[in-house]
Amino acid sequence: MGLIKACDMSDLEDGEIFKAEIEGEGALAIYLVDEEVFATADICTHGEASLSDDGYIEDGVVICSWHDGAFDFKTGEACRLPCMDPLKSYPTEVKDGEVFIKV
Ligand code: FES
Repeated sequence: MGLIKACDMSDLEDGEIFKAEIEGEGALAIYLVDEEVFATADICTHGEASLSDDGYIEDGVVICSWHDGAFDFKTGEACRLPCMDPLKSYPTEVKDGEVFIKV
């Protein structure tokens, strides 16, 4: 498993979603929630919505505003219709103010 830098901690705001472009993986959604960092694919599996552009965090899940589906951003699991397929999810690591994903 390799570590790839996704962004700096200073790019993230608590409760917000940051878009990181990762070579070979495409766009990822990076979530900072209660000082923990999570990462999933950015594109909703129901349609083509970008979760970092059109999604928001509420009650421990990311809601896709296009059709109100939801995913657990900690695991990528789809948890509300019409979303059924999971998002790819990535382990994260924070070192010296930098956020890395494991691929
Ligand atoms: S595109 Fe995300 S719920 Fe439909």
